[in-house]
Amino acid sequence: MLAIIGGSGLTQLSNLEVSHREVVRTPYGEPSGALTFGRVGGRDALFLARHGHGHSIPPHLVNYRANLWALKESGAKYIVSVASVGGIRADLNPGDIVIPHQIIDYTWGRKNTYFDGNGAPVTHVDFTEPYDAPLRRQLLAAATAVDIPVKDGGVYGATQGPRLETAAEIDRFERDGVAVVGMTGMPEAVLARELGIPYAAINLISNHAAGRGQSADGIHFERLEEVLRTAMGQVRKVIEQVALRAGDR
Ligand code: HPA
Repeated sequence: MLAIIGGSGLTQLSNLEVSHREVVRTPYGEPSGALTFGRVGGRDALFLARHGHGHSIPPHLVNYRANLWALKESGAKYIVSVASVGGIRADLNPGDIVIPHQIIDYTWGRKNTYFDGNGAPVTHVDFTEPYDAPLRRQLLAAATAVDIPVKDGGVYGATQGPRLETAAEIDRFERDGVAVVGMTGMPEAVLARELGIPYAAINLISNHAAGRGQSADGIHFERLEEVLRTAMGQVRKVIEQVALRAGDR
């Protein structure tokens, strides 16, 4: 079953025909909220709002381990993460959609592994390719099928938040090769890998990163609401196609 983790701007999936909600308990505590079960694109699907239903959990306090564990327990076989990001690469503008292919993790102090002792053998997961390649290809094919332009590839830089970045930090990230910057991509991606669940991301550019373009003098999210609404509609269409293609597996 396809699972979708929705971030800011996608706190519910309006094209999900809801069948029921379920509160799932995990050995790692409580997930961000109840899981929503239903059907999208005629297939079974599962939705979780990363920041909680009332959007009250900031990025650094999301219980990523509980979220991923709960999705696995509930039958998730594929996870598509939706998250809004700031655009650094010159060709990226508010409203654009990116399917990232790599990650640099700048977060700190987050609980970022299931393998943290407790007598379990030391385990190092391979993370050379942080996103599942076949699932990425499905996202790209789905977008093409519904005629929605998306950018294939980009390095996602995960920052700690909740504050936004300084202009100098963004310059540094650019030197590192980062294309988009967000606060939630890690440890989500690596925890999915540790659980063996294919994971890929849809990043929606909500703003130029600090010091760039329209954010030259600061980041003004309120200017961008209309752009975001349109782009979220496009993201929903892509998800519907992906569900259709993933089938009821
Ligand atoms: N920086 C970090 N995270 C973000 C941004 C940003 O500019 N926009 C949306 N999420």
